[in-house]
Amino acid sequence: MGLMARTGFGGWKSRTTFVLALSSSAVGLGNLWRFSYLTGEHGGAPFVVSYLLCLFLIAVPILIAEVVIGTHGRGSPTVAIRWAADRSLLSRNWMALGVLACLTGLLILSYYAVVAGWGMAYAGYMASGVFAAASALSVGEHFDNFLASPRELVYWQSLFLLMTVLVVSMGVRRGLGLLVWIAVPTLMVLLGVLVVFGVENGDVKAAQEFLFSVKLIDFSAQSVLVALGHAFYTLGVGVGAGITYGAYAPERIPLGRSVMAVAVFDTLISLAAGLAIFPIVFANNIEPSMGPGLLFVSVPYAFGNIMQGELFGTLFFALVVVAALGSAVALMEPIIRMLMQHLRWRRLPAVGLVAGVVWLLGLGSALSFNIWQNDHWFGNWNFFEVLDVITADLLLPLVSLFTAILVGWCMRAEIVKMELYREADLFFVLWRFLLRYAAPAAIIIILLASVRSVLS
Ligand code: PHE
Repeated sequence: MGLMARTGFGGWKSRTTFVLALSSSAVGLGNLWRFSYLTGEHGGAPFVVSYLLCLFLIAVPILIAEVVIGTHGRGSPTVAIRWAADRSLLSRNWMALGVLACLTGLLILSYYAVVAGWGMAYAGYMASGVFAAASALSVGEHFDNFLASPRELVYWQSLFLLMTVLVVSMGVRRGLGLLVWIAVPTLMVLLGVLVVFGVENGDVKAAQEFLFSVKLIDFSAQSVLVALGHAFYTLGVGVGAGITYGAYAPERIPLGRSVMAVAVFDTLISLAAGLAIFPIVFANNIEPSMGPGLLFVSVPYAFGNIMQGELFGTLFFALVVVAALGSAVALMEPIIRMLMQHLRWRRLPAVGLVAGVVWLLGLGSALSFNIWQNDHWFGNWNFFEVLDVITADLLLPLVSLFTAILVGWCMRAEIVKMELYREADLFFVLWRFLLRYAAPAAIIIILLASVRSVLS
């Protein structure tokens, strides 16, 4: 069974498709929205530096470990982990890690689809011109009214999920493989256009000030933890996407360098997104209001009040949707592959089941902005907030921690080394050191801190 599972499906023929797939999994709402406001909130440059350190020293080594499991095991997270466990004479209970990763992806996707749906709605609003010369107040009211309508939210959530389902149903080559070849270049062109527009029409100095000046007052120990959490989130670590895409990768590619390239690309996109958003926001003399408001209030207002802003605002939200789609597909594919391999289901029923569950769970998140807004499911958090905290602050670090332990401490070093044979010895030694010591230590600290803050 092991061998059959390992060879029973076709993957991608080119290395580029693999790198593009990981890139489109990495680039998403995290880059366009989370990174910018977190940077503003946590003191600018020191946050960017700690994020970069966390990304390259901790998140990248773990994504490499995920891909190593995938290229070694050539299957869904569970099948690949079982193969890795067998080959290193470990307990098959490690498969639970694969299940946890897939479930984490499913939970994230449930609310990710809701927010991505807002992006679709806003692309439409921008195009229709409702924000032309609107006041900041009325744009804010528009967002509040939008959130207050469960029907609207569910409609857009469903539409976004439907797009994801269409891509995933088309399979590894014609669905995912084709999407990433279209999405990544589209994303780059849109963002390029928006950066030029932002720099020409906006207040670049104020944006630079906001993103890169050192404001030590806002930078605390907590900021380092936020930086680490964001590094996992933005790279797409901890949901089994690295394993699944690794399994589809062609043989004999330099895994380490490919993952590094993805991390560099992801960071560049985040910085470029900051350059596209903030100059326009500051040129309109508005506070970059924090959190969801930034993307759905300040940005529409800013574009609505600038020449040709309608067109570029529409492009901006199109960018949000394209970026989110690549991530949503990466969140869904691991669990689909798992169901297909374990239950011997075909792709379509698996996609149907998962989409149904994701949609139902997503209803909880959509309702959290209106009917259920004040229903506290845990402490002070509503349903959406519980999901967000559990996944980002608990499950992603936990899956990453066990991945580091599995590949760094439990799998046989020769086997691991063989998967990375294209990389220099020094690279391997360095990577393994980070995976064995730095990553687990850092994650344990972040987990303890999150548990403390939840309980306090
Ligand atoms: N990396 C994506 C983003 O930045 C989110 C994501 C998380 C995607 C986990 C896949 C896996 O928005």
